[in-house]
Amino acid sequence: MDIKDKLLAAARESAANAYAPYSGFKVGAALLSSSGNIYGGCNVENASYGLTVCAERIAAFKAVSAGEREFPEMCIYTDTDTPFYPCGACRQVLSEFNPEMKLTVVWKNGKEELNLNLLLPKQFKL
Ligand code: THU
Repeated sequence: MDIKDKLLAAARESAANAYAPYSGFKVGAALLSSSGNIYGGCNVENASYGLTVCAERIAAFKAVSAGEREFPEMCIYTDTDTPFYPCGACRQVLSEFNPEMKLTVVWKNGKEELNLNLLLPKQFKL
């Protein structure tokens, strides 16, 4: 299995774990670190809706809290008929670590490869 397939498998597995009783919208993300590890994340919703955390940020925070800092690539999966792209907050969080991260967005019948800097030009930086 090549790395792209591994990332997709991890993103799909993560989506299956999504806790989304309110929206019913399940998202899975898989983040590749430069050391070759893969960190999966799913969205985790809350009855207090604003506390919900997206799949992409869960994957990023898992990886960073494991000591990783460099991330060349992420795969994002939704079991939908159309593509869904990361929200603005997730774009900013991913951009902190790699503004040129390669993203593969996968849905039921399609896949699109794009660069994070296309989705978030001129990100906030200190
Ligand atoms: N969601 C994600 O997991 N990632 C995104 O980039 C956008 C939205 C989740 C949050 C919530 O659980 C559901 O999708 C509907 O907004």
